[in-house]
Amino acid sequence: MLVFLDGMPMGRITSHVRHVVMRNDRFDNPDSGALDRSTQRLREARRVIVLTGAGVSAESDVPTFRGPGGLWRRYRSEELATPEAFARDPRLVWEWYAWRRDRIASVAPNAAHRAIAALDRRFPDFLLATQNVDGLHEVAGSRRMVELHGSLWRMRCLRCGAIKDDRRSPLPRLPPQCACGGVLRPDVVWFGEALPEEALKSAFDAAGAADLALVVGTSSLVYPAASIPRLARKAGAFVIEINTEPTPLTPTADVFLRGPATKWLPPLIEEK
Ligand code: OAD
Repeated sequence: MLVFLDGMPMGRITSHVRHVVMRNDRFDNPDSGALDRSTQRLREARRVIVLTGAGVSAESDVPTFRGPGGLWRRYRSEELATPEAFARDPRLVWEWYAWRRDRIASVAPNAAHRAIAALDRRFPDFLLATQNVDGLHEVAGSRRMVELHGSLWRMRCLRCGAIKDDRRSPLPRLPPQCACGGVLRPDVVWFGEALPEEALKSAFDAAGAADLALVVGTSSLVYPAASIPRLARKAGAFVIEINTEPTPLTPTADVFLRGPATKWLPPLIEEK
């Protein structure tokens, strides 16, 4: 069943670029009390949801999708992350994923990933919903986590449906082949495809119950993930956004901490 929120069909992934007019100077520097208010709210919180996007891995040297450096060759992610692109040219799409796998294989989680893992250990009621497919949250120690857009380190056979972990880098042949002879695809969610139902339900349930939502390094343009903090806000959660740039979420966030995730997260969680 498709559920509708904010006019967007839920359970499917769509790129929804809104033309939000934002005066950037409004969000230039958080006021001096913003961090204190946030740490205080986090101290008092009982149920926490964290939503992350590519920005949380940017300081591990993983390129984001949008903004400077967001293009691969001349392609935008929306042109390659689709079943149609894969049907048309599986090798091209695999080259993009293989390039990302190779890049990520040689990087390490950063202080932002580690701070989020520390929150996982601190709160009995906690969920991390990530749009990232790089696996760095898990390496950093996050456990209660849903990967809304799948994982770069899994493959799925288009013929027999088998799903397997595969961490080889580089891959010996593109596109990779299953033992049954079928073509393997990355086990990630592409535009126009349904998100993993259980993962999405867990994220929505956690958002509806949360008293604090922390949103880190996402452009808040891709749904249904972008509706998670909005849902939390509607249910009464305090929303803290950390991003180097304002996003469509920023005007409705309770606090916007502008800057790199590694600058704000360690002091926010008050752990050395
Ligand atoms: P985007 O590339 O759209 O956005 C990255 C966000 O991170 C931007 O808002 C940046 O301003 C911010 N950012 C960059 N560096 C940062 C830093 N050091 N600290 C904090 N913030 C920083 O990535 P996502 O929002 O994750 O889907 O994109 C969502 C989905 O669109 C992805 O999962 C992917 C993509 O197409 C698929 O491939 C299906």
